[in-house]
Amino acid sequence: MPDLASAIQAALAERFGERLEIDADLQGLEEITRIAAHRVHRHYLPRSVSPELMRLLCACALSAPSKSDLQQADILLVRKKENIHAIADLLPEMPWLREAPVFLFFLANGRRLEKISMKRGKPFPNDHLDLFFNATIDAAIVLTTLLRAAEAVGLGCCPISVIRDHASTISKMLALPEKVIPIAGMCLGWPAEKGSITPRLSLHSTVHEEHFVETDFGEIDAYDRRRAAIRPYRNQRDPERFGRHEFYGWSEDKARQYAVPLRTDFGTFVRAKGFNLD
Ligand SMILES: Cc1cc2nc3c(=O)[nH]c(=O)nc-3n(C[C@H](O)[C@H](O)[C@H](O)COP(=O)(O)O)c2cc1C
Repeated sequence: MPDLASAIQAALAERFGERLEIDADLQGLEEITRIAAHRVHRHYLPRSVSPELMRLLCACALSAPSKSDLQQADILLVRKKENIHAIADLLPEMPWLREAPVFLFFLANGRRLEKISMKRGKPFPNDHLDLFFNATIDAAIVLTTLLRAAEAVGLGCCPISVIRDHASTISKMLALPEKVIPIAGMCLGWPAEKGSITPRLSLHSTVHEEHFVETDFGEIDAYDRRRAAIRPYRNQRDPERFGRHEFYGWSEDKARQYAVPLRTDFGTFVRAKGFNLD
């Protein structure tokens, strides 16, 4: 499969600025090609996604590994236009929500296990941070697996964490009970455009061998330059506060993004939903 191997090589070179050696005889290269070429999609065709296909995607997503087989992740599908619009109205800065024929929520469900323990007449001494953490990780893995399955059939997705800016409102909208929280949402539909690869930090920065190596700012600078050559930022964030830079790269953008307090009430929301974070 030399074509697939070179497609993977090209995608990962664009992503990481590195030429990887790929054995063209490896099995599963089609799947690897899709993973390597991943990109989010934020524009969708006005074409519906059938309930049968959504069922298949949910089944694949929930086939993902689950911590201790505890199965603490759920998916909540929103397909009615008026309900998608009600969510989109909360996030006018993200007009792609309104276009999506399906919106999903990935839920960390710390409730079912506690209920099962009660029903089985057992104590539940594990109501602490680990319960929240396990359920959140399971939900994140389910999100990723759904994205993978959706991309395999040609659908486009965009995870949406900004729903957590409106966690209480959304929780009421969806009738989420105690110990069930949305970790993220996701727009899903047939992509209206091809999209493009987002370069990532070099593997040298993010893959550690045997022991942790501290961030090398030379690598970050190099990444800023490599990324700007392919995907320059169209706008500089908060120029009134931080000024305009002649060169504006990823690290400047992320430092500016995190110079503003974000979702500082999220812990309060999670605790109010009954999770014990100690
Ligand atoms: C957990 C999670 C939350 C995200 N939340 C949002 C969001 O609220 N709005 C949005 O437009 N994109 C969101 N994204 C998409 C990221 O911005 C996107 O993955 C990133 O820019 C890299 O692009 P790529 O996935 O095409 O490589 C989210 C992605 C993840 C994994």
